[in-house]
Amino acid sequence: MTTILVTGGTGTLGRCVTERLRADGHEVRVLSRHSETYPVDLLTGVGIDRAVAGVDAIVHCATLPKGGADEEATRRLIEAARTAGVPHLVYISIVGIERVPLGYYRTKRRVEQLIEASGLGFTVLRTTQFHDLALDLVRILVKLPVVLVPNGVRLQPVAVDEVAERLVELALGAPAGYVQDMGGPEVRTVRELVRAYLRASGKRRPVVGVRLAGRFYAALRDGGLLAPHHAVGRGTFEEFLAERVAAGRGGRGR
Ligand SMILES: NC(=O)c1ccc[n+]([C@@H]2O[C@H](COP(=O)([O-])OP(=O)(O)OC[C@H]3O[C@@H](n4cnc5c(N)ncnc54)[C@H](OP(=O)(O)O)[C@@H]3O)[C@@H](O)[C@H]2O)c1
Repeated sequence: MTTILVTGGTGTLGRCVTERLRADGHEVRVLSRHSETYPVDLLTGVGIDRAVAGVDAIVHCATLPKGGADEEATRRLIEAARTAGVPHLVYISIVGIERVPLGYYRTKRRVEQLIEASGLGFTVLRTTQFHDLALDLVRILVKLPVVLVPNGVRLQPVAVDEVAERLVELALGAPAGYVQDMGGPEVRTVRELVRAYLRASGKRRPVVGVRLAGRFYAALRDGGLLAPHHAVGRGTFEEFLAERVAAGRGGRGR
């Protein structure tokens, strides 16, 4: 039996990875600050040695978005994995992190480089934004009575369970380095995503485009977050909304 450690196994992606591995009969260790079995804060590393001991692979889904902490956390994870002789570290990254100027993305790139230089067998998968994140963004925008959308900004959201499926496949295989990017099935403007949400949730709001200045939005308008040549995802944003919003009219209550 294969034993896999999933860091961030309580998060949006980590939960899907964990469920999928367990459904396939693998032994899974869930590491996070709030895990019942492997409660570890990656910033302190207390308890990490027990979590990594004897595992066949680590799927690193934990993320600490503030202040570049992902770098320190990953350093600790790499150190523990090296000491324990873990043969394979799988990392989930984001398409376009070197094209879009954002602190979180700069940190993700440095984490990729740490993993590359770690001496561990590794695999890095970059994907576009998950449907869940696109929905979070849309829900923030529709809070205003008039919905302001950034002109020309496009996303290519992908289903998180499909990303989990791919990560599981990668974790069970040999280290592969950087694998092909994974994008959702459709490139959509934020305006289209907002309209889809309004339709699915039965809300009515005027939607007005605004041109936002700065290098960040310019990079987004240039398609910095897109992987149009790797539109391998199957589930569309509308299908996701039908499950999450239309069915429960509010999904997770957010
Ligand atoms: N969301 C997207 O659209 C998207 C797209 C492409 C790639 N990704 C990448 O996918 C990964 C997972 O994203 P996600 O959206 O699933 O994240 P998430 O839902 O925010 O989950 C983050 C996980 O990290 C754990 N965590 C946070 N701080 C920790 C710490 N100090 N020590 C140990 N664990 C800690 C959290 O659990 P506790 O709170 O219990 O510690 C949680 O399980 C990230 O690397 C992200 O960059 C995301």
